[in-house]
Amino acid sequence: MLPPALIAPTVANGQQAASEARLVIALDYGTTYTGVAYVQVTGRDTLDLDNVRVVTRWAKEETLKVPSRYSYSPSPKGCTQWGHDIDDNSRIMAWTKLELEQTKTRTQELGILCELFYGVALMDFSEEAIINNDIPRHLAKEAEDIVRDYLDEIAETTSEDIISSLGHHVPDRIPVDLIVTHPAKWSDSAMNSTYRAVAAAFNTARFPKLRSISFVSEPEACAHFTLRAAQNKDRGRLKRNDCFVVVDAGGGTVDLASFQVISVDSSTGQFRLAPVGYITGDKCGATFIDKSFEDFLEQRLGKEDWKKLKKEGSRDAGAGGHTLMNDKMRQLHKQFEAIKHEFKGDSALAKTITLPTGIGTIDNEEMGIVNGTIRITADDLKQMFKASVDRTLILVAGQITQIELSKKRVRNIFLSGGFASSEYLYRRMVQFGQTRHINVERGGDCWTAVAKGAVLKGLGICSEKPLPVKGCPRHYGVKTRTHFAPYQHKLSETEMDPEGVQWATDQIRWLVQKGDVIHPGKPTQVTYECHWSMKASTYSSGKGRGRDPITGYTPSTEVTRDVVFVASARDEVPTRYAEIEKGVDQVVSLRCDLTEVPDHMTATYQNKQSGKYMKFWVTVTVSVSDKVRIKITSGGKELASTDLPL
Ligand SMILES: Nc1ncnc2c1ncn2[C@@H]1O[C@H](COP(=O)(O)OP(=O)(O)OP(=O)(O)O)[C@@H](O)[C@H]1O
Ligand SMILES: [Mg+2]
Repeated sequence: MLPPALIAPTVANGQQAASEARLVIALDYGTTYTGVAYVQVTGRDTLDLDNVRVVTRWAKEETLKVPSRYSYSPSPKGCTQWGHDIDDNSRIMAWTKLELEQTKTRTQELGILCELFYGVALMDFSEEAIINNDIPRHLAKEAEDIVRDYLDEIAETTSEDIISSLGHHVPDRIPVDLIVTHPAKWSDSAMNSTYRAVAAAFNTARFPKLRSISFVSEPEACAHFTLRAAQNKDRGRLKRNDCFVVVDAGGGTVDLASFQVISVDSSTGQFRLAPVGYITGDKCGATFIDKSFEDFLEQRLGKEDWKKLKKEGSRDAGAGGHTLMNDKMRQLHKQFEAIKHEFKGDSALAKTITLPTGIGTIDNEEMGIVNGTIRITADDLKQMFKASVDRTLILVAGQITQIELSKKRVRNIFLSGGFASSEYLYRRMVQFGQTRHINVERGGDCWTAVAKGAVLKGLGICSEKPLPVKGCPRHYGVKTRTHFAPYQHKLSETEMDPEGVQWATDQIRWLVQKGDVIHPGKPTQVTYECHWSMKASTYSSGKGRGRDPITGYTPSTEVTRDVVFVASARDEVPTRYAEIEKGVDQVVSLRCDLTEVPDHMTATYQNKQSGKYMKFWVTVTVSVSDKVRIKITSGGKELASTDLPL
């Protein structure tokens, strides 16, 4: 990953950035909490942190951020079923952001499939559930769907907040630029899902003048806030050449970035900064302490009680691969949350948590279970904090090493994010800093640092404005074959290869999806490895034929193969090539001469059925930017390529 182009040299205040009327909205979708901040640029005023408004009026409560929770359960009390306003006994989708990144193993996928069957079977029989509208709708939802449904509520509340504070005319008439934050390490597929969910929720029906959506990483946004706040508060403190590390310790991820003060303007106290090294991050935020708490419960309560706790009897239809919190777990987490927040590392501490009715009914002193409560000691808590704290310290040490390798010295570590409120994490970080004479600091309102910092980034205060991304207008794929599966493919559309493997032919593998995000200056690139087989005799007889002494070499058709590329603007695309609509979808064939395939990318085999045959390995690359480039290579050598409009 390249260092971020963070701090631009000259813009020391908001004047230049404020030259054009617009509304800058920042969305910080978090694993546990979501924040939204915005600012109206009128074109006349000088903007700074004080002008940035944070959305605080969420359904039911006023808070700086709103819980990233959503439920598909019906609410007898009429709750809106998201954020703070979720009814008792609801199945809550929690920590869904982490699922956007998840790559599941086969076993996990099979587990989810079993749960789905189990859940669907229950749906058939539970008439009561159907009458009460209590159908486990989450089973049919991907993580991206849940995020989209949740962000839909966020976008609606944001729109209401803007209208009530600035008036209807502002979002109706003034261009809106939306800045979305993402963790330092965020896979392409997670980014695509985030973009699709955001674009669906922050749509032009809600924000008629929505002009652009752009991304900024959470540590970069956090750095903007931290530095601006430090600059405004304590101008003389940071000196030229000082380096510091910014840590955004959140619920899901801990993200870091480092900077150096390049120069300080002695008259204004403003300073210029440059990024040092790389942005880093890991999935070790505070929810991993909550997960360790669940492991602790499982180990102390034993299998039977743990099962009772996680399941809700016949009402439970399985999680469908999502993190689902039932009412009992929610109560336990609520009690634990208070203990987690309070923990400072004191060894004498011992706390108890009340277990739900029917759990821990038999006392077990050794396991700390007495009178329907469970005891948690300081050692237990240290163990639960261990992975998150240790990994955070390792990440900080990594940033310090990066800085020191470039012969610079670290002066400060700035802690931000909800997890930064942990006294235990702070103390451990201070201890760590002391051994290296590095000062550790926490900002006052560091919980909204990312959202506010993203607004600053969107304004272009002290930095370049982020470039807008766009959604891919079509699906792009190649015609290929896949392993034959009788329940999925037609027998008439199969072929047997020389090794006796049966393939379903004329299928389409979609490599880039409509709506995938395209970043400016960074093509979305997907590769697909495949091979062709051919009788060795066909290859040798076809090899020199068709050579034209004047026009050059034209391969005979026996030694060529076509890659058929397909583009479709339809929302739902077929997997069978036969269902491609000529004239609506676009089909382009690229001819490859197999005699051009380098020797090391071919191999010769022999078996009884086919005799001697050859295999040729090639790579199909599709790059999408402001055009689509399709390239077929083998061992680095280009066999064919073409460009198409998006
Ligand atoms: N005093 C505290 N001690 C320990 N953890 C805390 C404390 N205060 C808040 N937290 C934890 O911080 C997390 C919330 O922080 P934040 O809002 O920054 O995370 P997020 O933005 O949801 O996550 P991410 O950015 O990683 O996706 C919660 O997991 C919460 O339990
Ligand atoms: Mg966050």
